[in-house]
Amino acid sequence: MKSKGWDAELYEARHGFVWRFGEGVVEFLNPQPDERILDLGCGTGQLAAKIAAAGANVLGLDASPDMIGQARQNFPKLRFVLADAAKLEYENEFDAVFSNAVLHWILDRAAVVGGVARALKPGGRFVAEFGGKGNIRILESTIERVSAKYHGGQAPAKRTYYPSVGEYAALLEQHGLEVRSGQLFDRRTPLEGEDGMADWVRQFKWYYFEGLRPGQPEEALNELIEELRPKLYGPNGWFADYRRLRVWAVKL
Ligand code: BEZ
Repeated sequence: MKSKGWDAELYEARHGFVWRFGEGVVEFLNPQPDERILDLGCGTGQLAAKIAAAGANVLGLDASPDMIGQARQNFPKLRFVLADAAKLEYENEFDAVFSNAVLHWILDRAAVVGGVARALKPGGRFVAEFGGKGNIRILESTIERVSAKYHGGQAPAKRTYYPSVGEYAALLEQHGLEVRSGQLFDRRTPLEGEDGMADWVRQFKWYYFEGLRPGQPEEALNELIEELRPKLYGPNGWFADYRRLRVWAVKL
């Protein structure tokens, strides 16, 4: 199992659903020609390219050198920057800030939303979708339980944040963003192939299996997969119990 960081190769090969579902969020954003748009957590750049195809002037930002390197290789004509979404340094620069499937990774939500609010021009919009309250409830609780067994009874600390509509709306309002829309909805997400769940865990939850003795990560992963099978393997194969929070807010 890869031990740390984001694996852009595995992401592109096996987790294209992240940007395929994200295409619906780009449609919701409805980018217009010549708008300046920041794609917060752009990954390997596919959604930034879709925004650019609408004629907008897009800047992709990601904190992973692996992801940014791959984005530059995929889309050499677009602009990408390596930076932390919780430390944005832009002021009144963007007509829109867009983000898909990223904000649940950033625990310092106030820093992100504060930076987004500063980065937007007055009247600019923040359009984001990410894991909301109840996201991957079955998946994450099972990973925590199995991983705790291998870590002397205590699973590693959570690294994700899944807010409710009310909680996130309050945060947006505290930062001068007017909430025009907020939705929480289930989105069961198919994971490709017989190894779909194992690949998902290797990509997104590797940190639950760090620091174990040689051989143990593989053992724990096999045990986890067998625990998940009755819960998240259906007639069409593996799926993840995603739940999305989608918001639209405008800077006053
Ligand atoms: C997601 O909701 O997109 C997600 C959450 C945790 C790990 C990976 C993905």
